[in-house]
Amino acid sequence: MVSALYPGSFDPVTRGHIDLVERALPLFDHLTVAVAVNSSKAPTFAAEERVAMLREVMPADPRLSVTTFRGLVVDFCRSQGIGAVLRGVRTVSDFEYEYQMALTNRHLAPGIETVFVMPSVQYSYVSSSLIREIVRNGGDVSSFLPPPVERRLRERLCP
Ligand code: COA
Repeated sequence: MVSALYPGSFDPVTRGHIDLVERALPLFDHLTVAVAVNSSKAPTFAAEERVAMLREVMPADPRLSVTTFRGLVVDFCRSQGIGAVLRGVRTVSDFEYEYQMALTNRHLAPGIETVFVMPSVQYSYVSSSLIREIVRNGGDVSSFLPPPVERRLRERLCP
């Protein structure tokens, strides 16, 4: 059984993240989407809110679960018996950071492989912080966010 962990901030989840999960699901027997609780970023949504949004918009598939984690990605993988880390690579600039992280994770846990998947081109240039900036300034983000996530982001940023 091949299981993978898709770790991230998901602040909030975007159509790009969903696209990546849809592409990765056929590759694994089980995929765990995990919200990083101790990320260095100051989040807009609490971890529990991010998990709730992920559960609402991710595909309904018994092979998919959503949770939170603290500490190192590889430690969480080991504790759950997960053998692979899934990461999306959108641009060349992503690659440098991802390359560094994948090799560091391999150093820390040689048995855990990182698998890279490319999202669709229409999602390859957006990020959660860019989307937050557009919303703060009254712009249209409907092509990047599922409706329930867009609604919650507007409530949070433009009350
Ligand atoms: N579509 C749209 N946006 C995407 C995307 C996609 N497919 N894939 C990534 N992004 C965006 C995210 O929205 C995010 O945007 P933001 O920076 O504006 O918030 C950005 O790309 C990167 O986010 P993410 O993939 O969530 O990575 P991260 O750097 O925030 O977090 C962790 C990665 C979770 C692994 C890391 O931060 C962490 O907390 N690790 C725990 C400690 C550890 O193990 N470190 C590694 C040691 S080498």
